[in-house]
Amino acid sequence: MELTAIDLARKLFRAEFVDVRPIAGVTANLVIYTAFTEPGDTVMALSIPNGGHISYAPKRIGGTAGRVRGLNVEYVPFDEEDLNIDVDKTKKKVEDLEEEGKKPKMIVFGGSVILFPHPVKELADFLKAHDVFILYDGAHVLGLIGGDEFQDPLREGADAITGSTHKTLPGPQGGVVLSWNRYADEIKRATFPGNVSNHHLHHVAGKAIVFAEMLAYGRAYSQQVVRNAEKLAEELYTRGLHVLGERHGFTRSHQVLVDVSGNGGGGLVEKKLEESNIIVNRNLLPYDIRLGRSYKNPGGIRLGVQELTRLGMGESEMVEVADLITAVILKGDRSTQVAERVAELRGKHQRVQYSFNDLPEAYEYIKIRS
Ligand SMILES: Cc1ncc(COP(=O)(O)O)c(C=O)c1O
Repeated sequence: MELTAIDLARKLFRAEFVDVRPIAGVTANLVIYTAFTEPGDTVMALSIPNGGHISYAPKRIGGTAGRVRGLNVEYVPFDEEDLNIDVDKTKKKVEDLEEEGKKPKMIVFGGSVILFPHPVKELADFLKAHDVFILYDGAHVLGLIGGDEFQDPLREGADAITGSTHKTLPGPQGGVVLSWNRYADEIKRATFPGNVSNHHLHHVAGKAIVFAEMLAYGRAYSQQVVRNAEKLAEELYTRGLHVLGERHGFTRSHQVLVDVSGNGGGGLVEKKLEESNIIVNRNLLPYDIRLGRSYKNPGGIRLGVQELTRLGMGESEMVEVADLITAVILKGDRSTQVAERVAELRGKHQRVQYSFNDLPEAYEYIKIRS
């Protein structure tokens, strides 16, 4: 079963080496830290307000890289206008850190908020010349990568990709590492026995199925995910919400980021939407900390359309979703009214799409290998 899952993932991601044993995205990151860093080393990654994740945050905020692996985390410079990594400032920071005797061992691309492809290609030669290991954390965009709809980090110069198997890759909760044969032994040794001693075989079976489903339907699914995100962003924007990323067409991923600081803040909006049956994530925005906001009631909300898309929703449903969201945020409609409309919309979409929906189809997935 494990070998089948590996075969399918290698094909889906065009990866020489795959480890399907990490039981979560955080575990997959720990595997890479274990294999390619030592405690005390410096790594570079995005801060949380700029889209980074707690698994590569510093010790003082309880981040996995800092607190668990003992790494010194330095932040990757971020351009708040472009909502992306600043290439020139990143190069400068690598050189400055080297001069200070804190040469970065690794850089982490990817993130929890990632609207546009990160500049892996633009930085890869420079980073390789400085002997920096390039990790791409594809936790969120792994399905889009598999569906050829976002970016192709391995071909752009990444040494490894880590990811969750349950976000845009619509599988069971779990993790995965994709890399090159030259790193296979180090990664395998770092996974077992130190970070995973029992690799939850039932998840591995689920991973095999989702890799096969993505080989069969991943391209169509990913294309629809991105079209839906673009449509939702546009519809929210034209209804008067402050959607970020306008300069670049709002989004190229599954996510939409909205500044709701003028509507009560992310904490309040998240709660009001939840009362109306709409689940979103309150989110720090790049400038929030500077403006004195905290994660409890940050300036933003983050929306993801991957689940709605898997239930078969397309652009016309995104218009309806935008209506529902703005009814709560801008018009202050009563939660019960909106909640009923949400339940009605959801009720019309009961079947999971882009998937093997009957047994023969599921059992024949093995044919995809040949
Ligand atoms: C960028 C990023 N990396 C890693 C993770 C951790 O993933 P998991 O929940 O699979 O441990 C997350 C979770 O949201 C994430 O956003």
